[in-house]
Amino acid sequence: MLELPDDIFSEPEDADPDTLANLGPLRRLAGTFEGQKGIDVSPKAEGPQRKMFTERIDLQPIDHQLNGPQLFYGLRYHTHILAPDEDSTFHDQVGYWLWEPATGLVLQTLTIPRGQVAIAAGHASADAKSLVLTAKRGETAYGICSTTFLEQAFRTDSYRITVNFHDDGSWSYVLETMLLVRGRAEPFLHRDENRLVKVADPVPNPLMRLLKA
Ligand code: HEM
Repeated sequence: MLELPDDIFSEPEDADPDTLANLGPLRRLAGTFEGQKGIDVSPKAEGPQRKMFTERIDLQPIDHQLNGPQLFYGLRYHTHILAPDEDSTFHDQVGYWLWEPATGLVLQTLTIPRGQVAIAAGHASADAKSLVLTAKRGETAYGICSTTFLEQAFRTDSYRITVNFHDDGSWSYVLETMLLVRGRAEPFLHRDENRLVKVADPVPNPLMRLLKA
């Protein structure tokens, strides 16, 4: 963690405007990716449901962000998931991946339209081959916040994402979301995985596009 400085207002004036050059381990996530062989295990009344899915995820660089002295480079993402035999959305998610070069802090924010938000955190080196980020219900810093219905019916206690980068430029992830389903004695492991292949390069961040024009 960055030690809390006495001056929490002053911002660095020499931050590089080129986000793609400063994404550390997130550089390999930048662009548009697709994966056809996702696997979801989710809770249903009859018990766990295992289903294949297809995914498209767009991760685009944003201009660097400053919290006073704290500097982040990052990507804004949107993931859209379909089950092979259905036209309606199976899962939709938006958020940011952020990297703090000074500390190696990696963050993923998640917004899921069932009324759920989370910030997961981890640490990695710039050349990391994998990332592990976690969020926990009840934490005020890197926590999970849900609707009253979800709190009562599908309490989400923890979230973990593991990302592995592959030599061919693809990457894969495993999501492990622990749910306490009302009326069930044991927690339920809601698990998702997929491998994603790049279909388009990222577009440079807005400030870089402006500087180039
Ligand atoms: C690839 C990612 C994911 C997919 C494909 C997915 C898919 C699903 C599906 C199919 C269900 C069953 C209920 C339904 O049909 O609506 C479900 C339930 C649920 N998911 Fe996910 N999910 C994903 C990630 C997540 C994540 C990251 C979280 C939270 C951090 C989450 C939280 C929940 C909760 C709380 C439920 C229970 C609510 C309910 O059944 O109405 N999911 N998910």
